[in-house]
Amino acid sequence: MTVHWTRKDLLGLRELSAEEITLVLETADAFKQVGTREVKKVPALQGKTLINLFIEPSTRTRTSFELAAKRLSADIVNITAAASSLTKGETLKDTAKVLEANHADLIVLRHSSAGAAQFLSTRVRASVINAGDGAHEHPTQGLLDLYTIREKKGAVAGLHVAIIGDILFSRVARSNIFALLKMGARVTLVGPSTLVPREFEQLGAKISHQLDEVLPSADVVNLLRIQHERQRKEYFPGLGEYIRFFGLTKSRAKLLKPDCLIMHPGPINRGVEIDSDLADGPQSVIFDQVTNGLAIRMAVLYLCGGIVTR
Ligand code: CP
Repeated sequence: MTVHWTRKDLLGLRELSAEEITLVLETADAFKQVGTREVKKVPALQGKTLINLFIEPSTRTRTSFELAAKRLSADIVNITAAASSLTKGETLKDTAKVLEANHADLIVLRHSSAGAAQFLSTRVRASVINAGDGAHEHPTQGLLDLYTIREKKGAVAGLHVAIIGDILFSRVARSNIFALLKMGARVTLVGPSTLVPREFEQLGAKISHQLDEVLPSADVVNLLRIQHERQRKEYFPGLGEYIRFFGLTKSRAKLLKPDCLIMHPGPINRGVEIDSDLADGPQSVIFDQVTNGLAIRMAVLYLCGGIVTR
């Protein structure tokens, strides 16, 4: 079945079909190949303007979208919260309207509020790409994680993926859960019961609070940072306690299959969710994830940027 991309925006992976996810991954294959050429630039978005609107800090996602836009020959403007009139009380909607009045074609938005990208998408004609909205979704992270698993393992279907840590406050976890299940993987969420509530079973994932029981059967482990910036109270007794039960330490890593992939979306808190040597070790694909983020973001900008709404 041939699938055509018809979406102006990319807001989350919950609403994407398996066929649409496959289309993004296959489009990223082509762009990854372009990245190996001497001339890495293509004219796909020539004449289009992209605004990178980051109202929350970011290293990987912001850089990767900027590079992706440049590789596609788009004109790009970066705006951060501190350097915008949001600090003077301007609303997000008015900020976006200003950007559109300057003929922005694509707006990449990172925001601390869940639903911010969806809010914008209904109020501007530009394509809106969600670069992470609160604890809701981070679709391009989910796609690059899937791409990395598919690249390293050959396929996603049938694999057992353990997502470990602060699931409750993680947009990365939600996007991964939606996409992995659609693509036929089995997902187990592991962490303290306060950060991995039973409600997540309704999404189709399994829940465990015993990391040592899950590790031996995992094909992929995806470690998540404790997202203190979104937590309003203490969810576990202390970091020492967290590491003892849920940290991927060197001794605990001996339970992993030798070909189990170790993933982390970053930023990493070395020595907390993962031992520093493991993050840099042979099973780690953490920096492959970063590399693949560029191809995925080129694919997303190319697909959404090709939808003419004006
Ligand atoms: N994974 C991720 O979103 O990292 P940044 O916050 O650095 O963009």
